[in-house]
Amino acid sequence: MTIIAPSILASNFASLGDEIRSIEAAGADWVHIDIMDGHFVPNLTFGPPIVSMIRPVTKLFFDVHLMVEAPQLLFPALAAAGADRITVHPEACVHLHRTLTEIKELGIKAGVALNPHTPLSVLEYILDEIDLILIMTINPGFGGQSFLPAMLPKLRELKEMLERHGRTDIHIQVDGGINAETAAWVREAGANSLVAGTYIFGHEDRAAAIAALR
Ligand code: DX5
Ligand code: ZN
Repeated sequence: MTIIAPSILASNFASLGDEIRSIEAAGADWVHIDIMDGHFVPNLTFGPPIVSMIRPVTKLFFDVHLMVEAPQLLFPALAAAGADRITVHPEACVHLHRTLTEIKELGIKAGVALNPHTPLSVLEYILDEIDLILIMTINPGFGGQSFLPAMLPKLRELKEMLERHGRTDIHIQVDGGINAETAAWVREAGANSLVAGTYIFGHEDRAAAIAALR
């Protein structure tokens, strides 16, 4: 079963609560929450206060994707705001193992997101700390970019690596440029969790968009 995680980055922030209700009604599994600081990526979104304001709106799992410098500064506030998982970029973490431990000590799940250029080898010794690996299929920072096909062999290699380690329970997530066409490619290559912003929020019929991704 493919897990669909609409990215609220592409939603209408003037009616964020209604946007989240609409994707819940449309069959979304997780809410993908992109936090950006204007430093790690050249874009700025929102922080823990907004996460806490949308928490009462839905029972859906909050899948937080942290694209900031010094991510560990936000962990306590995000956990208190209702994050269910925090996914960090190793490109922003000097001590990745320690950082993942800090997330889990707050009682929530931890994931790791890899930029397109980052090799899978950074994951090899930290698999016990995570339940999700996010393969970025664009360069992070903005919605609406084109899918990078060079990430398909990376997904296949990741799947092999997880099989080798007996860790096929770890989610393989993709994020960026996911639509009905690229969803089929990434599912075939091993992804089981699909983030999509523009594709889902750009559709009048969000249930149909989610069904097409699955
Ligand atoms: C970009 C974000 C994505 C973004 C994807 O850095 O991590 O989650 O919302 O947008 P689309 O689906 O439009 O490519
Ligand atoms: Zn994201």
